[in-house]
Amino acid sequence: MHSPHFQTARWPLAGLFALMTTFVSVPVWAIDWNGVPVTDVTLFYPGQSSLEWAMTEDDHSGAKKFRAGKDCFECHDGEEKDIGAKIVSGKKLEPNPIAGKPGTLALKVQAAHDAERLYLRLSWTGGATSGTHMDPKYAERVTVMFDDGSVKEASRAGCWASCHDDAQGMASAPEGKKITKYLWGSRTKITRQGGGENFKADAELAQQLAGGQFLEFWQARLNPGQPAEAVQGYVLEKRQTISSPAVSAEASQQGNAWTVVFSRPLQSGGAGQKAIVAGTTYSVGFAVHDDYASHRFHHVSFGRTLVLDQGKADIVAVKK
Ligand code: HEC
Repeated sequence: MHSPHFQTARWPLAGLFALMTTFVSVPVWAIDWNGVPVTDVTLFYPGQSSLEWAMTEDDHSGAKKFRAGKDCFECHDGEEKDIGAKIVSGKKLEPNPIAGKPGTLALKVQAAHDAERLYLRLSWTGGATSGTHMDPKYAERVTVMFDDGSVKEASRAGCWASCHDDAQGMASAPEGKKITKYLWGSRTKITRQGGGENFKADAELAQQLAGGQFLEFWQARLNPGQPAEAVQGYVLEKRQTISSPAVSAEASQQGNAWTVVFSRPLQSGGAGQKAIVAGTTYSVGFAVHDDYASHRFHHVSFGRTLVLDQGKADIVAVKK
């Protein structure tokens, strides 16, 4: 339904650049990244640490203070190496450890915008190859979770807002059912095992979608020597993708070292998309599935904040 709009928004200068490409190959949205500040974000291996796990005092001693208002990153900033090493080894929260998998992954983040679009440049080096291809289709995937403050758990807990104990591959995953990412707000009842299929009524979910009560995500699916595949979607009662993504992704790669630039129009393109404006503090989370990993076998960040132009945030998107 939105595809005509997406098409024009995606390639605003397509005619002009078609002429230019005769001489030199310039991406449609080339940005000069020199001088754009770099934020170092340590991604770590989370195993089966769901939101419900993190909220349960018997399982996680941070639960009480988290409930009282302290955010995950406030307690754990700088501890990612220790946390990742412990979980990836199988000592805790990971019943099926992968030998040789690194506990952390260093991600470099840069952000910029112009009058039309937001650009996020992400660089990392994937771990040594294990030979096990869980997801045979993609060597690497990088994902950004994005919210404008509408989802309270995302502002407090980043990606954990969507990561539940009954999701596929997690400790309480039900037999024979695949539960994807979802938000508490979409369920009538939540237990230590998650929200199961206690869905709110369709009309209520539709109202939440219209009211922005969802998380947006962008993903680049990557294989060496091939163009990035951009995927965009949102998480509400489940994880769903948008058929004509407004987000674009460009990748470059040398060995295991990858750089991906995401670009998305600032304007919301409709259902499942946030507007991106100066003055709003966005919560962002990052995840990398390296070495053909799937599901929980990824590296994730604690939640970060992003603003346009200026303000108190972990990542400031500079005006270009
Ligand atoms: C008040 C501080 C505090 C807050 C807030 C907090 N934690 Fe923790 N967390 C801890 C402590 C202390 C441990 C050490 C192990 C334990 O006692 O469970 C820990 C352990 C962990 C571990 C296991 C790794 C280990 O070293 O045992 C993970 C994963 C984790 N926290 C994730 C989270 C997430 C996700 C959130 C937010 C939803 C969060 N934490 C909020 C204090 C905190």
